[in-house]
Amino acid sequence: MTALTLSTAAAPGLRVDAIVVGVAKGTGPKSGDLVVAPGAEAVDKAYDGRLAGVLETLGASGGEGEVTKLPAPSGFKAPLVLAVGLGALPEKDASFSGETLRRAAGVAARALAGSKKAAFALPIEDAADAGAVGEGALLGAYSFDVYKENGKSNDSGKDAKNGKAPLAEVTLLGGKPRDKAFKAAVERATAVSEELNRARDLINTPPNDLNPEAFAAVAQAAAKEHGIKVQVLDEKALEKGGYGGILGVGVGSASAPRLVKLSYTSSKAKKHLAFVGKGITYDSGGISLKPAGHNETMKCDMSGAAAVFAAVVAASRLGLEVNVTGWLALAENMPSGSATRPGDVLRMYSGKTVEVLNTDAEGRLVLADALAKASEETPDAIVDVATLTGAMMLALGNRTFGVMANDDSFRTAVYEAAEEVGEAAWPMPLPDHLKKGMDSPTADIANMGERYGGGLVAGLFLKEFVGEGITWAHLDIAGPAFNEQGPFGYTPKGGTGSAVRTLVRLAELTASGDLG
Ligand code: BES
Ligand code: MN
Ligand code: ZN
Repeated sequence: MTALTLSTAAAPGLRVDAIVVGVAKGTGPKSGDLVVAPGAEAVDKAYDGRLAGVLETLGASGGEGEVTKLPAPSGFKAPLVLAVGLGALPEKDASFSGETLRRAAGVAARALAGSKKAAFALPIEDAADAGAVGEGALLGAYSFDVYKENGKSNDSGKDAKNGKAPLAEVTLLGGKPRDKAFKAAVERATAVSEELNRARDLINTPPNDLNPEAFAAVAQAAAKEHGIKVQVLDEKALEKGGYGGILGVGVGSASAPRLVKLSYTSSKAKKHLAFVGKGITYDSGGISLKPAGHNETMKCDMSGAAAVFAAVVAASRLGLEVNVTGWLALAENMPSGSATRPGDVLRMYSGKTVEVLNTDAEGRLVLADALAKASEETPDAIVDVATLTGAMMLALGNRTFGVMANDDSFRTAVYEAAEEVGEAAWPMPLPDHLKKGMDSPTADIANMGERYGGGLVAGLFLKEFVGEGITWAHLDIAGPAFNEQGPFGYTPKGGTGSAVRTLVRLAELTASGDLG
C-alpha cells in the first residue's frame, strides 16, 4: 500500500523520483495562457519563472487529465518534474475544487507507476485540499496484479513482470504537518483510500476464488483486526432463520450463501446507521441465464457488499462517534439442477412470499432478506448499495449511481453527501404506479415488473421489505461499480470502489449530528 506523508521540505532538496506540479488554463485576461498552479512556486523559480513557457513549448494545454513530463531544473535532487493539468483556472478568489485536485493527483500517481517516491506540489489551501490530493494519489496508485507472475512488486522488492509497480511513497508539500486538521485529513485519506482499495481488490478477485464463504472469511479477519463485532450466518443458520431470499438465490450454486453482520459501535454514539450490500459473488443469471457478452464482468456483482464492508472498517479506523452495522448478503447465482426456477415461490425472511419470474433479478431477493433483518434493530436509517439493474446504467450511464429513498429529504442528503466526496450520483423517484407491475397471481409479489423504469421497479420491490417507519435509501451502482473502459482520474480499470466514500461521509455526518 502506498504511504502518505506531509512535509515542509523545500522541493530542490527532495530525494524523490518526481515532483508533481499543477498547471491550469488561464481565464479572464489570462485566457489561453498556461498558468502554473500555486504550490509550485519553488519549482517555477528554479526554471527562472519560465515553467509555464517551457510547458507550452512541450505542448501542454493545462487540460484535465493531461500529463507533461520534463527534466527537473538544475539544483534539484529529483530527476523529473511532472505537470498535471487542472483544467480552467478558478475565478479570482475561488479555489480548485476538491474533486479537481483528487483527479489530478490520481492522474499523476497513475503516470508515475514504476517510480518509488514522488512529492506533490499541488495547490493545497487547507486541510481538506490536502485530504483530497492524498486520497487522489492513493486511489490513483492502485493496481491489481496478484494474479500476475511476480505479484505486487513494491511489496516483494521485485519488478512486476506484467506492468509497473504502483507508486510506493507520496509526500504532500505545502501542508502543515504539525497542524491537527492536516494530520487528521491525511489519516482520513489513508484509512478511506486503503479500505476503498481493499474493496477494489475484492471486486477484482475472480469468482472462483471469492465465493460467499471466502468473502465472509475476509470480513471475519478484518473485523477481528479492527475490533468490529462479526457474525456469519452459514446455510444452516440461514435455513433455521427462514432467509428464503438469500437461500433461494444461493441454492443453485456449489458454494453456499452467507449473511455477514458487522457491528462497529462507539461508546459516544447517539445514532445508528445500517448499511446493506448486495454481495452476489458471481451473477450468471441462474436458470434465466444471461446471454454471452453479459457474463464476463459479473464478478463485480458483489460491489455493494464490498462497499459496505469497506465503509464499516473505515468508520472503525476513524473512530467515528456513530454505530454502524454492515450487512453483507452473499450468494452465488448459478444455474443447476438444484437452482431456483422461474415460477418458484420463495418465503422471505419478512414472511412475505415472492414469485420468482426471472432468476436474474436475484439482487433484490438477497437484499430483501437483509433489509428486513436490518430493520429489526430499528436503526436511524438504512442505506443499501447494489449493482442492481442494467436499467440504471441505461438511465444514468456508467459513472453515476442512482439514489432512491422512502424520504425526500434523506434522498437529498445522500445525494449531497455523494457530491461532497466527489462521487457522481443522481436522485431517482419511486413512482407508486410501477408497483402494480409486480402483482403476482400466486404470491404476495413478483420479483419482476414493468420493463420501463426497471431500476425504479427494483427500488420499489426493496421498499416493501424495509421496516415500517424506517428511513431508507437505495444506491443502484450498476453503472459506476466496474470500469470496463480505460482508467481516468483516480479510477482504475475494473472494480472502482463506488459508494465507499459516500457511505463513510454519511457515517461522519450522522456522527456529527449533521444528518437526520
Ligand atoms: N447484476 C445485474 C445488474 C447489472 C447489470 C449490474 C450490468 C452491473 C452491470 C442484476 O442482477 C440483473 O441481472 N438485473 C436484471 C433485472 C431484470 C431481470 C429484471 C437486469 O437489469 O437486466
Ligand atoms: Mn442478475
Ligand atoms: Zn445481479
